[in-house]
Parts: sequence; structure tokens; C-alpha cells
Amino acid sequence: MALPKNFLWGGATAANQAEGAVLEDGRGLSNVDLLPVGKNRMRVALGDLEMLEWDDAHYYPAKEGIDMYHRYLDDIELLAEMGFKVYRMSISWTRIFPNGDDKIPNEKGLQFYETVFKALRKHGIEPLVTLAHFDVPVSMIKRFGGWRSREMVDAYVRYAETVFIRYKGLVKYWLTFNEINILLHQPFVGGGLIFKEGEDKTQIKYQAAHYQLVASALATKKAHEIDPENQIGCMLAGGMHYPYSCRPEDYQEAINRDRENYFFIDVQAQGAYPRYALKKFEREKLDIQMEDGDLEILAKYPVDFVSFSFYSSRTVSGFEEDYAQTTGNLFKSIKNPHLKSTEWGWQIDPLGLRNALNQLTDRYRKPIFIVENGLGAVDTPDENGYVEDDYRIDYIKRHIEAFKAAVEEDGVDLMGYTTWGCLDLVAASTGQMSKRYGFVYVDRDDQGKGTFNRSKKKSFNWYKKVIASNGEELSLN
Ligand code: BG6
Repeated sequence: MALPKNFLWGGATAANQAEGAVLEDGRGLSNVDLLPVGKNRMRVALGDLEMLEWDDAHYYPAKEGIDMYHRYLDDIELLAEMGFKVYRMSISWTRIFPNGDDKIPNEKGLQFYETVFKALRKHGIEPLVTLAHFDVPVSMIKRFGGWRSREMVDAYVRYAETVFIRYKGLVKYWLTFNEINILLHQPFVGGGLIFKEGEDKTQIKYQAAHYQLVASALATKKAHEIDPENQIGCMLAGGMHYPYSCRPEDYQEAINRDRENYFFIDVQAQGAYPRYALKKFEREKLDIQMEDGDLEILAKYPVDFVSFSFYSSRTVSGFEEDYAQTTGNLFKSIKNPHLKSTEWGWQIDPLGLRNALNQLTDRYRKPIFIVENGLGAVDTPDENGYVEDDYRIDYIKRHIEAFKAAVEEDGVDLMGYTTWGCLDLVAASTGQMSKRYGFVYVDRDDQGKGTFNRSKKKSFNWYKKVIASNGEELSLN
């Protein structure tokens, strides 16, 4: 048995990491435009340092991204040349509503994405569109504190409705929030949250989570009403937790840490707060404000499919002293002695992808979509911009083999696979350009220098062959 004929092969980008042109054609500022490079980036991302304006002391790579706003149509030609069946991208909310909740949408923003979607369709490429990829209008952060306020729900749903209506017939696959569980780990990035001294962060984050979950369910409702063809997915920052040893305490920690992430998807896919979450709210005295009807909304409008990103697994222990050797930067994790790491310390685990697919299938019994996976690595181009990226090919090949086994041997219902950063783009965690994922090299460096020229890497033709053979032809040369 092979992958299904209609398997959606492609790649993914996000508006804030690629488009640039942040104030062009009426666009408003978004939270992620304000993430600087350097030591303050994480403090801003965590909501511990307020940065709602640009200043001269910092460099903000999202301002220009990879200039995709001006190069979209040429870039789509490259994706088409690789034979993409699907292209995952996000709409920038503030191109459509510059303040998030303006009375009328910005026609230039709507027009821009219409042109992009039509160009994709012309090449037979299915758009897969994220409504909010780490994207909160700054105006709404200033007025309401971002997702700490219920005001966000109506604004988000109106934005969603506007684009569902406008792009009816052009876009069928939608994701409501990118990596929704990142809200707990980088609250400014996920929800535009900025904390004041002494505030109860957990309370604010779970309240924001409730609003996002209601907004996601209401958007799902609208999407189906506007076009029954629409398919809506949730999106998890995936990668399960392994117990460091077979001590029961380590296994218990692994379950608890998995639950922290699955919490969101449990609600979005199963339509109800899981009991372990209700117990947590009770135990930690979290007082989540819910309006009458909220729980019915969650129950009535679950997502159609579950999507996730997968870069690595994590290893955890029930004992603090085991964390002496940690790895990764976002999730507290112990170095797994059985896995190799990338240059950025992310542990490479193709079999983990197969296991994750099985776990998600068992838990949700819905179609699954891998919407991010790939290797962030330093590339050294020759004078023509060509990169011999065998390391990237090897990484992707091993992950493809793993998901093929999940489909062919375990029976996972997998809709498709989009590699992250099919064109090099700005890294979300660090703001670096030097952490490259693409099949296409983009001439731009960490200081903001370069021509933005695009050139094909070795992996470009390799991935083209993979797609043309529906994943049968994976050899390096
Ligand atoms: C995911 C995000 O967290 O991982 C992307 O959805 C991000 O936006 C990707 O770029 C890879 O992370 P990074 O930090 O290497 O860009």
C-alpha cells in the first residue's frame, strides 16, 4: 500500500516571517512585528518586557521578512515548479483589519491575498491558510490587553467571517490558530499578553486560552455555514514527552507535560474541557470566566481535522536534579542520550513522528495533517547561491519514511505534509535568517543585509522528485 493519490505534498510559511512590508497598503502593526533580535527577544515573547513600538536600539527582522509581499507571484512559480499540491501560508490579520476590529476591512489587503490564492489555484496548488499565525493586532493589545479580553473573540470571528466570504471557492483548508499551545509558553507571541508585576500569569493565560478556544469554535461554525466544503483544523506545537527513565515519577511527568499541550486540542477536537483540566483549575484556584453558552459552542463546533508541527520530541523527569543538562529553549527538556541534535539543540527523532501520529490518531480519531517539519541549519551557498544540503534531504527523507510507515503499517489517516520554511525565512524563536529550512535559498543575513535573491538548493530537485513519485522515490541523487 502506498500513500493515497490525493496526498497533499507541499511546504509552509507564515506572513510575519516572510512578507515584510509591514506598513504597506494600509496594514496595521501586529505583535510579531515587534520581536527584536537579541537578548530582549525572549523577554518580549514571554510578555515580561513591553515593546509596542519599534525603537532605534533594536533590529526587527519582521519589518522586511524575505520581502515576500513584493515577490509572492515569483515565489509561487518556484513552488509550482517543485510540484506542490498544497501551500500553507497565513493571512496577516492587520492587512485585513489594521486595528483588528475596524468598521470596514482594508480592500487592498483583501485584494492582495485574492491575487495570491488565484495564482496558487492557477497552478493547481491548494492553499492551506492559517488565520492567526502568532498574530495579534497591536491596536487591540493597547486597548484591551490582547487575548486577556473577551473583545478579541468578536473581532477574530468577524475577521474570520470576512475572509471566509471573500475567499469562498478559493480556499478550502483553514487552521484557526498556529501552535495554539504556545500561548502558555510565549504568551505575548501566542496571545499578545504583557504582564504587570505581581499578576497571576497562569490565570491570565488560561483565561486567554478559553477565549481563543471559543473563538476557534465560532470560526469553525462560520466556516461551515459559509461554505460546507470548508475544512477546519486545529494546530498543535507537537512533540511528545518521553520519561527520562522507567521510574513511575518520570512517566507521570511525561503524561502531565503532554496534557499541558493536548489540553487545547482536547477541547478543539473533542468539544469539551478534559477532566484533568477542570481539576487543575480547581486545584490552582483558577477562575475562568465563561459566558452562558460557551460550553455549548465548544461542544457543537469541533474541528474537522487535527494538524501539528513536529521538530523533535522532549525528555522529562519527575526529579528536578535531572535537569542539569537541558536542551531546546522553549520547553524544559533533558538531553535524550539516544538522539542527535540539530545545530540549535533540537533533537532529531523521525520515529517520534510516527509515534506522535499514532498517539494523535488514537486520541482524536480524526484525519491528521503534518503542517510543519524540517531542519533549521546553517547553509553555505556557492557563488551562484547553490547549497549542497544533503543534511536537510537526509532529515526530511527520514521523516517521510516515518510517516509513510504510520500510514501504510499503522493505518493513520494522514491528509498531507508541508515542510516548514520551504523558502528560507526569519526564524520565529531567534529572529535569525541563518537558521534556514528552505528548498530555496534567500540571500539575506542576520544583520538585514542581502539582495533577497532566490536560488534553488540541492533539496529543491530532490523534493520535486519525491512529490512526483508520491513519496516512492526518496534516494539522495
Ligand atoms: C513553529 C512555528 O514554532 O516552528 C514557526 O509555527 C517557526 O513559526 C517554526 O518558524 C520553527 O521554529 P524556528 O524558531 O526555528 O523558526
